[in-house]
Amino acid sequence: MRPSLGFGTVTLGILLSLTRAENVIVPGAAWTDTNGNVIQAHGTGLLKVDNTFYWFGEDKTDNSALFEAVPCYSSTDLLNWERQNDALTPVNGTMISAADIVERPKVIYNKKNSEYVMWFHSDNSDYSAAMVGVATSETPCGPYDYKASWKPLGADSRDESIFQDADQTAYLLYASDNNVDFKISVLDSNYYNVTAMVSEIPNSNLEAPGIVKRNNTYYLIASHTSGWAPNPNKWFSAPTLSSNWSSQNDIAPEDTNTYFSQNAYDLPLGNNTIYMGDRWWPELLGNSSYIWLPLDWSSGAPQLVWADVWSIDLEQGTYSVATGTTYIAEDGVLGGTAEILNNSAVGWLGNGGTLTLSNIQGNGAGQWVSLYYANADSTWRNTTVSVNGGPSVSVNQPNTGGVDVFLSVPVKLYLEEGANSLLIAANQSSYAGDLEKIIVYNEG
Ligand SMILES: *[C@@H]1O[C@H](CO)[C@@H](O)[C@H](O)[C@H]1NC(C)=O
Ligand SMILES: *[C@@H]1O[C@H](CO)[C@@H](O)[C@H](O)[C@H]1NC(C)=O
Ligand SMILES: *[C@@H]1O[C@H](CO)[C@@H](O)[C@H](O)[C@H]1NC(C)=O
Ligand SMILES: *[C@@H]1O[C@H](CO)[C@@H](O)[C@H](O)[C@H]1NC(C)=O
Ligand SMILES: *[C@@H]1O[C@H](CO)[C@@H](O)[C@H](O)[C@H]1NC(C)=O
Ligand SMILES: *[C@@H]1O[C@H](CO)[C@@H](O)[C@H](O)[C@H]1NC(C)=O
Ligand SMILES: *[C@@H]1O[C@H](CO)[C@@H](O)[C@H](O)[C@H]1NC(C)=O
Ligand SMILES: *[C@@H]1O[C@H](CO)[C@@H](O)[C@H](O)[C@H]1NC(C)=O
Ligand SMILES: *[C@@H]1O[C@H](CO)[C@@H](O)[C@H](O)[C@H]1NC(C)=O
Repeated sequence: MRPSLGFGTVTLGILLSLTRAENVIVPGAAWTDTNGNVIQAHGTGLLKVDNTFYWFGEDKTDNSALFEAVPCYSSTDLLNWERQNDALTPVNGTMISAADIVERPKVIYNKKNSEYVMWFHSDNSDYSAAMVGVATSETPCGPYDYKASWKPLGADSRDESIFQDADQTAYLLYASDNNVDFKISVLDSNYYNVTAMVSEIPNSNLEAPGIVKRNNTYYLIASHTSGWAPNPNKWFSAPTLSSNWSSQNDIAPEDTNTYFSQNAYDLPLGNNTIYMGDRWWPELLGNSSYIWLPLDWSSGAPQLVWADVWSIDLEQGTYSVATGTTYIAEDGVLGGTAEILNNSAVGWLGNGGTLTLSNIQGNGAGQWVSLYYANADSTWRNTTVSVNGGPSVSVNQPNTGGVDVFLSVPVKLYLEEGANSLLIAANQSSYAGDLEKIIVYNEG
């Protein structure tokens, strides 16, 4: 069982089909919509119309890269999302059939034509077509009418995004020339086509782009190319979109590979920015999760703030990161083959090794617990957690890239009020990641 946002369980492990309002963002958890279904909107595009946000993305329910649909979700708080109709669905005999690729949909509003325009990466199943696609609608969720797929200015376009400037001029940001050269081209006034390239970062191997404008400076955020696997995403700056860009800089500590995520969209929030990334899980694409984090500018440059649990004040344009209570793994009772490693984490968990953490203070309701672990293997692992002798919950652990690189994964646990005992990795024959600590939050 993998608890997901919007569901509650009691200590007996019975799932209640109770959905309730969300008030926190938990990166990496399974996010559910207002009907309790897992949100399928990977490769995010966000659109704000009056006070409503619309979230577009890729539906990967079938665990396939092929085009299923571009769903449309709506929300007024960025936390509680209602699934609307699909904005774009396959059209047989075109470049957007169910045997093709539609990725990273981005929607902007064209004031002149009173029309919503969706741009997306349009490709065939082996990614050899390398095109953009455009579809239009009179309403935010559509359904959108597919217009065409083509190579902008005759060149490749794979990962892309759209940036709409304050003067309504819009730009296509795209990985071109077999993902080697990164380009920015200006759209025509209808937003139906590009008319000219305005800047290029040659030989940069960038993808997953987004642009944020602040204080008359443009900041480009993008990843490098490493397939579904994450890499250190970078930022670049320029005074205008037709200037040369600065050299690249990290948005997060390099060894975390952007906290195991890839940029998809960067949403301004007051003086802050919300980084919206994907944590791709190639073997189970539909279980890929969303890594939304505050992008902090207090140093003058964009830096991700890791937050296990956090919240947004939309009116103030501010965010706050929740604090929890930390319990150190090496202070627990080791069982079987478990041992304390040189990096102080408890290793050899699972396959006979166990860890018991006692006196974990709970609040008698579902609450988020973050497991900080290192997994230097090249595959995802998982760990089991059992509360007070109850049934095990399995928690997925992406590889972290090294024995000394620690990431956290969330699990919602039902702790009794007062002291609880957690038994970790007791019920699995495979190995789990090395555990450094857990942090217990009051939020649930
Ligand atoms: C579209 O193609 C799919 C699979 O190739 C097929 O099952 C379906 O019947 C087709 N739909 C129409 C409207 O032709
Ligand atoms: C986009 O513009 C180019 C000319 O720059 C033209 O060749 C191409 O057909 C246009 N594509 C679409 C879909 O209108
Ligand atoms: C805006 O940019 C100017 C000039 O680069 C700089 O002096 C100023 O500190 C910046 N303001 C903020 C709020 O970042
Ligand atoms: C951008 O860089 C190129 C190559 O270094 C240089 O030739 C060009 O003059 C620069 N353009 C601007 C506007 O600085
Ligand atoms: C946003 O930044 C501006 C300029 O630095 C400042 O005047 C304003 O108070 C800030 N707003 C918030 C909500 O922090
Ligand atoms: C993947 O997602 C499905 C649908 O939400 C869920 O039922 C399943 O438990 C998840 N699997 C894993 C291994 O997380
Ligand atoms: C800890 O480091 C020492 C010295 O490098 C090494 O001999 C030992 O095997 C290490 N122990 C573990 C548990 O990794
Ligand atoms: C846990 O990981 C192992 C491989 O290490 C895998 O065989 C197993 O299916 C995973 N369990 C769950 C519940 O995902
Ligand atoms: C251990 O796993 C088995 C098989 O998944 C399950 O039936 C059993 O209830 C689990 N035991 C505990 C204590 O979680």
